[in-house]
Amino acid sequence: MSNYVQAMKDFVESHYIATFAFVAAGAGLLAIRRWMAGRACLSKVMLDGKTVLITGANTGIGKETALDMAKRGARVILACRDMTRAHIAADMIRQQSGNGNVLVKKLDLACLQSVRELAKDIEKNEPRLDILINNAGIMMCPKWATEDGFEMQFGVNHLGHFLLTNCLLDLLKKSAPSRIVIVSSLAHERGKIHFDDINLDKDYRPEISYRQSKLANVLFGKELATRLQGSGVTVYSLHPGVIRTELGRHLFPTLAVWKRTIAIPLMMLIKTPWEGAQTTIYCAVEESLANDSGFYYSDCARKTPAPQAQDDDAAKRLWDLSASMVGLG
Ligand SMILES: NC(=O)c1ccc[n+]([C@@H]2O[C@H](COP(=O)([O-])OP(=O)(O)OC[C@H]3O[C@@H](n4cnc5c(N)ncnc54)[C@H](OP(=O)(O)O)[C@@H]3O)[C@@H](O)[C@H]2O)c1
Repeated sequence: MSNYVQAMKDFVESHYIATFAFVAAGAGLLAIRRWMAGRACLSKVMLDGKTVLITGANTGIGKETALDMAKRGARVILACRDMTRAHIAADMIRQQSGNGNVLVKKLDLACLQSVRELAKDIEKNEPRLDILINNAGIMMCPKWATEDGFEMQFGVNHLGHFLLTNCLLDLLKKSAPSRIVIVSSLAHERGKIHFDDINLDKDYRPEISYRQSKLANVLFGKELATRLQGSGVTVYSLHPGVIRTELGRHLFPTLAVWKRTIAIPLMMLIKTPWEGAQTTIYCAVEESLANDSGFYYSDCARKTPAPQAQDDDAAKRLWDLSASMVGLG
């Protein structure tokens, strides 16, 4: 052991600049990592007797959110399209939370029929719904279409959730005070709603489509909050941070090898799914937000969204367009 210590001393003395640089780089990386981690939701609220439905809860931010809700004692419904992965996630959540009241339900947001069937099932079998978390998302896929012929990212990220939420409104109102949490993204800041070409048929670019869908999330939250005033149902939209999840599954394979090589170590610096779930959890349970509605959050705090996300006329126009697309009267 003393030989080892002596060898280390000799190394540091003869390579002190390299040693100093190594220690400084390590400390710098740790500081960046701590800064990236962001704030945690500090609320200790328990959810015994409450029901929470989370879309896309078999992985990533949704799974961490579901685990947190289960630890708080809620009845948790994982609404997922891949039933095998959803059952594996539900088993893990039951085990880690000690809460057996965790269910799996089929939901494919790229199919309006599937959305309607889930809503009907919930309305029929669940006496209450206290928190609806619209979390599921798809990012930067090729130009794909949903079963109903809508552009995939707008269809899944916005339209599917638009229909689901509207179908569950009566139950949410009956369960008031209740909350609707919409997971958007910072990407909305560079977004635009292409009212004249909503499916981006003229010029499809994956990043333009993702930004449009995430702006639609914030505008939907805003208009929904206006329509729900006085109902006891409050609405929150949010950016979870940049999180190490499977969201990049369509983007990553398209990157040049050198970009992927740089990206892999950088992934270690960005937020974990647990850290990424904190703002969603904050919006779902934080007591001080009980009377707030229609606002946008990031890092467990209220933030001002981009100007185009504050446009009342665009929010109303998007609502009308979405309602006609999904066949809501
Ligand atoms: N990760 C980030 O850095 C980041 C940043 C900003 C915003 N967000 C937002 O955070 C939310 C969660 O994303 P994540 O990062 O946790 O990504 P993720 O790990 O890819 O999880 C996405 C979830 O959505 C589900 N999903 C996708 N298409 C669906 C469909 N047609 N029907 C039902 N479920 C579907 C996925 O199911 P499968 O497993 O079956 O595909 C998965 O459960 C998304 O709304 C995303 O836009 C993430």
